[in-house]
Amino acid sequence: MADTPATTPNAKFKPRIFSGIQPSGGLTLGNYLGALKRFVEKQDEGIETIYCLVDLHAITVWQDPDALRRQTREAAAGFIAAGSTRKRSILFNQSQVSAHAELGWVFNCVARMGWMNRMTQWKDKTAGKDAEKASLGLFAYPSLMAADILLYHATHVPVGEDQRQHLELTRDIATKFNHDYGVDFFPITEPVIEGAATRVMSLRDGTRKMSKSDPSDASRINLTDDADTIAKKIRKAKTDAEPLPETMDGLADRPEAKNLVNIYAALAGMTQAEVLGDYAGQGFGVFKPRLADLAVEKLSPITTRMQDLMQDPAEIDRILGAGADRADAIAQPILKRTLEIAGMIRSR
Ligand code: AMP
Ligand code: TRP
Repeated sequence: MADTPATTPNAKFKPRIFSGIQPSGGLTLGNYLGALKRFVEKQDEGIETIYCLVDLHAITVWQDPDALRRQTREAAAGFIAAGSTRKRSILFNQSQVSAHAELGWVFNCVARMGWMNRMTQWKDKTAGKDAEKASLGLFAYPSLMAADILLYHATHVPVGEDQRQHLELTRDIATKFNHDYGVDFFPITEPVIEGAATRVMSLRDGTRKMSKSDPSDASRINLTDDADTIAKKIRKAKTDAEPLPETMDGLADRPEAKNLVNIYAALAGMTQAEVLGDYAGQGFGVFKPRLADLAVEKLSPITTRMQDLMQDPAEIDRILGAGADRADAIAQPILKRTLEIAGMIRSR
């Protein structure tokens, strides 16, 4: 994790990690390697960690209510199965802590239209479509994301590469708020984008992100896939006919091959160089079955545990409710102080 030297403006904030996942579809291997696995490792470093299932973000595009409920529980089960524990981290769904929406509104008044217009995710999501028909929430989404983070004075936010620009915007919002009101109230949050799997790509097209919204199920590994399906998808993954090279430079123009090496490294807890050290000169006839075995070995315990947890939705709801109480206790004083700084009367 990036060090925060005592001279930075964040010195007065105690280290606290916050991150969020949208429960807008099933979890993929990309979510697991790029988010869940890393998040749980952070919890194990002994830093306070807060993880949020951002259901208010999810409804920026249409969500069937039953599906949203199921996906929220599935994401919670994914966190718990990946090792998140009550003792070490707070896990909750966003809408149960109303301070997110309240601070989000304040930040809508701090952020500028021009900043939002420059967000590449907004541009991607409206590309080729009529932007006039996108929800206002989708446009304002990064400002709610800034609220999620700053509501806890979080100093570090682990995410995948795709979220870097939103974190820069979070820093801009904190800076502008602090400047406009002449305070040093919000920390300037550091993104934590590290490891071999900050961008897991599609198994069918190494230039596209593995995503739950890809129409092709073969493009991704879902955390609900059974062992046979996982192995089959890896064996069928698109590759090329060349053997694996000695160094990562040799994979520069081979996105599919590079992706499989990255996935192997992340699952095995190795560097890419170590993986190539073991497999240089071998073709995919050898590498893919080994990767399939590794993926099944690492993912099966998690998918099985997730399925067990999903049998008891009431217990998941209870865990989320208890997490929301703890999150709320941290968030409320920060929201109250923000509103006071902005000149609002808080007399009860
Ligand atoms: P999302 O599912 O888009 O809400 O993303 C939740 C978290 O998973 C974020 O930290 C993302 O950056 C991360 N993530 C999603 N897809 C991938 C992927 N294909 N590779 C790496 N990280 C990912
Ligand atoms: N925008 C993030 C994504 O799509 C999810 C998210 C919402 C988030 N709020 C957050 C991530 C706060 C980190 C911190 O992946």
